[in-house]
Amino acid sequence: MVDFIGIERVRDLVARKGIAAFIEELATELEADYRRWQDFDKSPRHAVHSPVGVIELMPISDGHLYSFKYVNGHPKNTAQGLLTVTAFGVLADVDTGYPLLLSELTLTTALRTAAMSVLAARHMARRDSRVMALIGNGAQSEFQSIAFHHLLGIREVRLYDVDPAATAKLERNLAALHLEGLRVIRCGSAGEAARGADIVTTVTADKCNAIILTPGMVEPGMHLNAVGGDCPGKTELHGDILGRPDARVVVEYEPQSRVEGEVQQMPAGFPVIEFADVVAGRAAGRADDREVTIFDSVGFALEDFAALRYVHRLHREDRASHATIDIVPVLENPKDLFALLGPRQARPRAASHLRVSA
Ligand SMILES: NC(=O)c1ccc[n+]([C@@H]2O[C@H](COP(=O)([O-])OP(=O)(O)OC[C@H]3O[C@@H](n4cnc5c(N)ncnc54)[C@H](O)[C@@H]3O)[C@@H](O)[C@H]2O)c1
Repeated sequence: MVDFIGIERVRDLVARKGIAAFIEELATELEADYRRWQDFDKSPRHAVHSPVGVIELMPISDGHLYSFKYVNGHPKNTAQGLLTVTAFGVLADVDTGYPLLLSELTLTTALRTAAMSVLAARHMARRDSRVMALIGNGAQSEFQSIAFHHLLGIREVRLYDVDPAATAKLERNLAALHLEGLRVIRCGSAGEAARGADIVTTVTADKCNAIILTPGMVEPGMHLNAVGGDCPGKTELHGDILGRPDARVVVEYEPQSRVEGEVQQMPAGFPVIEFADVVAGRAAGRADDREVTIFDSVGFALEDFAALRYVHRLHREDRASHATIDIVPVLENPKDLFALLGPRQARPRAASHLRVSA
């Protein structure tokens, strides 16, 4: 049997820890895996595009465990009552090739993206950052708000979305959380939200080269957490922001980000730093308080690998309510697959050779 984590189970795992502690632990897992960057067999994700969206497969392995995520991005979906982004994934044992876990990754992607954003900001934003503009107030936005408040000490979030109902929803959800010491301010434009902010998070969805931030909105010392531009032809920043002489651009995995990130707008030789180099201390995340740092996030398979391994560990720790799913046969004789179609056998034994790696 293969372990199974559905939406309800993730709700349960997050509730037990508390969302801030969950994101914090996830950020620790992400950082640990970025520190051992060289252990991973990496490749850019495989994307199938349509005029309205994209479906992507994101595989990665460290030689012991393998994972992949299936994820879509369809900005028009919300008009039909559907999510822009949904995902699920698998964690597998490299030695046997057997899947260990099948998990939802829609909620988990929002949690891991917030964890990754905060982790990058810890290395790149000014230490005295207290005010964040949050542009794009859809599905990911609560996770970003909570993570930056709890883990980075943000005291004021300034919200803007072209859809006022999305901002009202975010305001309502944040108010219900009673986040101590967090001021939530609704703004009338992206420019108003960004003015004077220490950090600007852009997490919008539109399948086009949108210009959410123009050069005039960016001030010295700002950290830009650009999350929403993550596909060819889908960006959020004006190219001149990247080209500022005082800008430092950090990406997750250069071969993928050159195609999918904000840097797709720039020539092939445009300098970028991989986040693994920042974590390992081979490159600085920020040189001084006046530099404009840009985390050009697209989402990399390593982050889902770390998230799958983390939720799997939590799932196994609580054996009482630990669900499995029968998607791999368990046979007395592995050469007799046909036996499965014969008369019903006694209930198969749980496979004892499946290992769980921490
Ligand atoms: N980098 C990553 O790791 C990562 C992870 C998850 C999602 N994403 C991306 O983040 C984006 C947001 O995802 P989501 O699930 O919150 O989507 P969503 O559709 O729920 O929310 C997006 C919001 O952006 C708003 N928006 C669109 N154009 C805008 C504009 N010009 N100005 C201001 N607001 C605008 C929409 O009204 C909507 O409320 C998507 O593009 C998704 O692909 C990236």
